[in-house]
Amino acid sequence: MASTTSHRRALAAAAVLLCTTTGTAACSSPGGDGGSSSPATGRTVPSGATAPQPDGTGALPPGAGAPGIGDPDFPSDGNGGYDVARYRLVLGYDPATRHLSGTAGIRAKATQELTRFNLDLSGFTVGRVTVDGRAAAFERSGTELTVIPGRPLPEGADFTVEVAYAGEPKPVTGSSNLGTYGFIPTRDGAFVTCEPNGAKTWFPGNDHPADKALYEFEITVPEGITALANGELTGEPVTRGGKTTYSWREDHPMVTYLATMTLGKFTLREGRTASGIKNLAAVDPRFRGSLDKLYTLSGKITDYWATVFGPYPFSSTGGVVDDFSAGYALENQTKPMYGGFSPGEGIIAHELAHQWFGNSLSIKRWKDLWLNEGFATYAEWLWEEHQGDATAEQTFRLHYAAPAGDAIWKYAPGRARPDDLFNDSVYTRGGMTLHALRRKIGDRDFFELLKTWNREHRYGYVTTEEFTALAEKISGKDLDALFDAWLFQESKPAA
Ligand code: TRP
Ligand code: ZN
Repeated sequence: MASTTSHRRALAAAAVLLCTTTGTAACSSPGGDGGSSSPATGRTVPSGATAPQPDGTGALPPGAGAPGIGDPDFPSDGNGGYDVARYRLVLGYDPATRHLSGTAGIRAKATQELTRFNLDLSGFTVGRVTVDGRAAAFERSGTELTVIPGRPLPEGADFTVEVAYAGEPKPVTGSSNLGTYGFIPTRDGAFVTCEPNGAKTWFPGNDHPADKALYEFEITVPEGITALANGELTGEPVTRGGKTTYSWREDHPMVTYLATMTLGKFTLREGRTASGIKNLAAVDPRFRGSLDKLYTLSGKITDYWATVFGPYPFSSTGGVVDDFSAGYALENQTKPMYGGFSPGEGIIAHELAHQWFGNSLSIKRWKDLWLNEGFATYAEWLWEEHQGDATAEQTFRLHYAAPAGDAIWKYAPGRARPDDLFNDSVYTRGGMTLHALRRKIGDRDFFELLKTWNREHRYGYVTTEEFTALAEKISGKDLDALFDAWLFQESKPAA
């Protein structure tokens, strides 16, 4: 538990500007098969139109998809005008040269007429882009890749984009409260943890949680290296000419930041939990001694959460310990990843609770992050209570004892700040909010609320307003004052 807290604190410690645009504006021409109608050079804008602003606020040419999905705190994250249904990532990586190459196939539906639309991609050289099999023009600017199909896509059209790209992936750095995230090369592979917006460091897509999709991964690595991605292996790995290809598939909706292709030497243990859920634990050889504990605890905790939160939403559970010393963990869908430490019960309980809160139920706007982190933190307290250690009430009191001048009371967790998203308040005061609610409405209504919340929004999107409304409906109580004091005031709530 001590390590859980210090990892969390380490994350929360400093400030960061997450929405910097670090990408390079590399442009190259699409393949010359004659299918494209305009050259893909530079940042040309149709005459008479105003250049689209990277923050999505400027006027767009007619039929252009917006360069942001509409999250005011992260204006250039994600994109507008389409909805992704499925990603198919066919990628090769060589740890020795740090070279990533391959194609991303994206099936999507146009939600408006599209003369052009954006994908998010950071770095890489884009070799060729096709839309429905025909070469399309494209432009690069910062982390935006604009695709200009040969002819406009009508509203409602299902279409496929293929992007061939290659280069050395560069993780997001310089964000001091998150350390390094995204595709992080390691000695023997890569550690890939992308919250909040680092998926663009390894594949082009709609990089914001408000657009979930299904995923297929076909990952080729040097023989002897294991490639771990979300969901299930669809067959035995195939080795040919010194390279092995792993095919994984996540068949449940997933947000971009939960996708992973973590690579390296791993020791695996596979089986099922007591209730029958597939369970896979993988550890870097340096953490060989942690394998059985990770496997056993992950299984036990997943089964327990299913009794508290409702049925497990995905087809397998487990965990991965890599030797990259991130000092943090991420709840990657079906495979939480622990960066460079042997996880204890608290952090395993936290990351597995995210499979319900964050992964199955996902936020539409980053300001609602307490719906992920406050709930996962409260789950740690529930796990301790279940173990017969501290009760949630005792843990609540411990944190509530922080003096009125403490920073936690100055940061309103119901409104996560874009420059300090993962503040301790979002975690701890978010968890305290749930305990204050439990005290007010009683255990029976509180636990019914957690289950109903999951049932009603399984695989979907949630907002704070929806949660407070459901809490009022189930309890029959007016909870405005409670939620206002705990979530939205920059001061210590009264006892
Ligand atoms: N969501 C993680 C947690 O469970 C914390 C986190 C935020 C993170 N951003 C990250 C972890 C990036 C890894 C990489 O607390
Ligand atoms: Zn968390």
